[in-house]
Amino acid sequence: MARFEGKVALVTGAARGLGRVTALAFAREGAKVALADIDEAGGRETLDMIRAAGGEGLFTPADVRIEREVEAMVAKTVEAYGRLDCAVNNAGVVRFKPIAEETEEGFNFHIDVNLRGVFFCMKHEIRQMRQNGGGAIVNQSSITGSLTGNPAEGAYAASKGGRRRPDQDRRARGRQGQYQRQRHLRLRHRRARRRLPSMDGEGAHQP
Ligand SMILES: NC(=O)c1ccc[n+]([C@@H]2O[C@H](COP(=O)([O-])OP(=O)(O)OC[C@H]3O[C@@H](n4cnc5c(N)ncnc54)[C@H](O)[C@@H]3O)[C@@H](O)[C@H]2O)c1
Repeated sequence: MARFEGKVALVTGAARGLGRVTALAFAREGAKVALADIDEAGGRETLDMIRAAGGEGLFTPADVRIEREVEAMVAKTVEAYGRLDCAVNNAGVVRFKPIAEETEEGFNFHIDVNLRGVFFCMKHEIRQMRQNGGGAIVNQSSITGSLTGNPAEGAYAASKGGRRRPDQDRRARGRQGQYQRQRHLRLRHRRARRRLPSMDGEGAHQP
């Protein structure tokens, strides 16, 4: 039996990159997958890929910086599938700039997407997960925000460091099985990432 059979998973930033491969992996493992992104064309392309492979999903255009859009994204998922079991808060941005060269607008941009966006997502996902009796959330951070720094990613590192904290509370994580699933997802991300072609364009991450 597929590992996520009967589960409903939500992935933000699912129009390309890690979000896309995460969504495809969930679908392959039997989950119904709710995709969200500001990039409608890319999001619908990921949905087509899921359906072409025999999976089930839906796409909601959503900007994680806007709370009502995040709330609607969760509501649409629950309206379609009745519950929410897993969420990967993956949508993120980076512009390479040292702190000394960064502008207030640039700093706020990273905090808005990478940190406030995750707060809005967690808030509405947790409210729903409480109603199903539990769930698992992965906030996509970065080694730049935790293990190491990068002088060219000042605002990004600040946003990603902050993003790690809300999911550090082990009491909030629940049962041991949920830890293992989170760890498993992280490992899958890393493996999938190695297989991806390199991406470029504004906001794209360098491998
Ligand atoms: N790729 C890496 O090497 C790497 C390393 C460490 C951490 N990460 C993190 O993993 C996540 C995904 O990285 P990636 O390389 O796949 O990035 P990417 O730039 O390829 O994709 C990011 C996705 O997020 C979406 N997005 C951006 N702003 C949004 C918003 N306001 N609302 C909704 N969606 C939005 C984009 O449209 C895009 O589809 C990011 O959070 C990133 O910080 C990536």
